[in-house]
Amino acid sequence: MSDSVSGISHQPVLYQKVLEFLQPRSGGHYVDGTLGLGGHAHGILQASSPDGRLLGLDVDPQALQLAAQRLAEFGERASLVRGSYARLAEHLAAAGPPSSEAKGWPPVDGILLDLGASSLQFDRAERGFSFQQEGPLDMRFDPQETLTAEQIVNEWSEEDLAEVLFRYGEERKSRKVARAIVKARPLKTTSELAGVVVRALGGRRSGLHPATRSFQALRIAVNRELDSLEAVLPQAVAALSPGGHLAVISFHSLEDRAVKVFMRRESRDCICPPEQPTCTCGHVATVKELTRKPVRPGEQEEQANPRARSARLRVAERL
Ligand SMILES: C[S@@+](CC[C@H](N)C(=O)[O-])C[C@H]1O[C@@H](n2cnc3c(N)ncnc32)[C@H](O)[C@@H]1O
Repeated sequence: MSDSVSGISHQPVLYQKVLEFLQPRSGGHYVDGTLGLGGHAHGILQASSPDGRLLGLDVDPQALQLAAQRLAEFGERASLVRGSYARLAEHLAAAGPPSSEAKGWPPVDGILLDLGASSLQFDRAERGFSFQQEGPLDMRFDPQETLTAEQIVNEWSEEDLAEVLFRYGEERKSRKVARAIVKARPLKTTSELAGVVVRALGGRRSGLHPATRSFQALRIAVNRELDSLEAVLPQAVAALSPGGHLAVISFHSLEDRAVKVFMRRESRDCICPPEQPTCTCGHVATVKELTRKPVRPGEQEEQANPRARSARLRVAERL
C-alpha cells in the first residue's frame, strides 16, 4: 500500500505479512501501539470489517491528526488516543467508544508495534530526526517531553555521551565522536552535528553514512525507546486473549534482541539456569513463538522502500 494523506507518501513496512499474522476478523479487537500515519491500522480495520475495532496509540499529535484523517471512514470502530504504548494496560482500561458509558476493552485479538520513527517524522526537517536535512536538534516523538537531542549533545558529560553512542548506536568509535562533540559545543542543528561526526570518523564505512549510528543513538536516548519497549512487552502479552497475536517490527538489533529474548523466555515453561538440575522458578509459558527467525522484507519491498531494509518482524501467539 502506498498512498498519501496531506501529500505525504506512505508505505507501511511488511504490510501484507503483518496482516497475515494478525488475521484480523470481523468482531475482533486490535491495538496498534504505534499508529504513525495509520497505514497498518487502515489494513487491520479494513480486514476486520464490518465491526472489528482498533485502539490506536501514538505520542505524536501530528501523527494522530494524519492517522485520524486516514481512518475517518471507519468511524467509531477506530479509537485514537494520544499516549505511550508503555502504558498500554491503562489505555486499554480507559478505552471505549465515545458513545458508551462502559470503559475497558476485553482481551484483544492482536497487537502491533511498528517501532521507531515514521516517514513523517524523518521527512520533516523541523523535527530534527534526519542528518540529511537542516533542522533543530530535537528528535522528540512526543513534543510534550522535555528532553531533546540538543540537551544531550550540549549538556551531558563526555563520558555519558560516549556511553549513549556506544550503547544505543553501537558506535565503535563512541569516545572519539563524544570528544569531538564536546569540543565543538554549542551545537544547534542536525547539519552541525552531522558535520562534527563525519569529521571525527572520516568517510563512509560499509555504505552507511557516518552519522547514522550517532543519530540513532540520540533518538533512542531522547525517547527512552528501549525502556518503553521493555515496559510494553509483558503488558501486551497480558492483554491478549488466548490465540491472540503480538507482532513487533523493529529496525535495529537492540530492539530486535529485546523482542527475541522476551518472546523466547515467555515461550518456556522453566527459566531456571541450565546448570540447575530441578526447576525452582515456577515459570509457565505464556506464548508460542510463531517466528523463530525474524521475517524480513522481500527484495521488491526493500527496493521500493529503503526504510524497510532493516525491518525485522517477530510474532508470538498467546497460549
Ligand atoms: C514507524 S512509525 C509507525 C507507522 C505505522 N505503522 C503506519 O503504518 O503508519 C512509529 C510511530 O510510533 C510512535 N511512537 C514512538 N514511540 C511511541 C510510544 N512510546 N508510544 C506510542 N507511540 C510511539 C512514533 O511517534 C511514530 O509515529
